[in-house]
Amino acid sequence: MAEKIKVANSMALEFLSLPENVGLARVAVAAFAAQVDMTLNELEEIKVAVSEAVSNAIIHGYGGAPRGTVRVAVERTQAGLVIIVEDKGCGIPDVALAMQPAYSTDPERMGLGFAFMQSFMDDLEVTSEVDRGTRVKMFKSFKGENGE
Ligand SMILES: Nc1ncnc2c1ncn2[C@@H]1O[C@H](COP(=O)(O)OP(=O)(O)O)[C@@H](O)[C@H]1O
Ligand SMILES: [Mg+2]
Repeated sequence: MAEKIKVANSMALEFLSLPENVGLARVAVAAFAAQVDMTLNELEEIKVAVSEAVSNAIIHGYGGAPRGTVRVAVERTQAGLVIIVEDKGCGIPDVALAMQPAYSTDPERMGLGFAFMQSFMDDLEVTSEVDRGTRVKMFKSFKGENGE
């Protein structure tokens, strides 16, 4: 099997807040993550976490309309992948409450986005300011041979 790259790398992607861009972000981050040996399961977990964070930015941050941009930045370190999803949308008044499983401001939704991010990633930090935007920072550590 070919040697996969392990040195540090980074990439960033910025796009308009349109729902069709969720798939774009998911594929781009997965392709970046796949530069190192990761299990298919780990890649799936990363894809779900990125999709949840990006759809939150688009749907909640900007109300599902092309009102602003979402930025996704990914950095690979020796320890793992750092993924940051940022929007300049409406912000979250109470982050701790919003992160509770099954909490949603939309009765049509399940309120499990943050719960998925929490369980699929090794670390999750959410910072937000009303009318300024939201920043979701996730970390996925390299297991087994990838770790140092
Ligand atoms: N980027 C964001 N901007 C504004 N509000 C957000 C953002 N992300 C999450 N939220 C708020 O946090 C709540 C919980 O998010 P989540 O767990 O993904 O559940 P859901 O998307 O199903 O509502 C949302 O209902 C929304 O009120
Ligand atoms: Mg959500």
